Amino acid sequence: MGTATGYLELAERIAREAGEMLLAKRPERPEVLATKSSPTDVVTALDRASEELIRARIKEARPDDAVLGEEGGATGDGRVRWIVDPIDGTVNFLYGLPDWAVSIAVEVEGEIVAGVVNVVPRGEVFTAARGEGAWLAGERLRCNTGVPLERALVATGFGYEPGRRAVQAEVLAHVLPRVRDIRRSGSAASDLCAVAAGRVDGYYERGPQDWDYAAGGLIAAEAGARVGGLNGKPANPELTVCAAPGLFEELQELLAPLDPERDA
Ligand code: IPD
Repeated sequence: MGTATGYLELAERIAREAGEMLLAKRPERPEVLATKSSPTDVVTALDRASEELIRARIKEARPDDAVLGEEGGATGDGRVRWIVDPIDGTVNFLYGLPDWAVSIAVEVEGEIVAGVVNVVPRGEVFTAARGEGAWLAGERLRCNTGVPLERALVATGFGYEPGRRAVQAEVLAHVLPRVRDIRRSGSAASDLCAVAAGRVDGYYERGPQDWDYAAGGLIAAEAGARVGGLNGKPANPELTVCAAPGLFEELQELLAPLDPERDA
């Protein structure tokens, strides 16, 4: 049985190695190997190579642990589970935009205890161990507090399915006039770290999966933010909201009547 800090050290080492591999091997326009739900959902050969490398390193160090990965699905049944997004922000990766990340979280008996988000092109490795704070380059992170809804800079993202996007656009049309402005980075993991670092005030999105928000959610929470779904639910693929207490509730109150957990 490891400690949260021990898991974090291993997760960080692996996320850095995967990031180095991806940077070294990333061609100008990585070949698109396959598509997921629609042609804009690119999955590159390097996405798979990154997950294979991460899985191999976890197996070497912790052969009994379970792994949930975006590409390889769920394997193993240990009480320690690694939740892996080998490249979050695959479209940014394809286009050479700077917000793509390797995201690795460690969950022990259902609780996320360590998380690392390596935003590779920015050279930024965000980390958190439960109860130990969120960190970037030796600096402890604190989310912005006391920001009212009308002055909040809010990050969000959109799914790949047209029907989902139609509803997301409808929800956005109600949100945009009520806040300072909206940002769309293209990486949910990076968005959550941006909340942690005070680069945006809040984040909401329908669609991100465990591997998108497990590590970034812990980092945001350890920086003082609340992370959750609607109506008291934990963060989940139906909707994830993240902001400092106060703004978190304001965002919830704005979003809930818009019924954002649906698709057209
Ligand atoms: C996507 C990114 C994007 C978000 C999408 C995710 P992927 O992850 O996090 O910001 O808006 O909902 O699916 O597909 O690049 O790993």
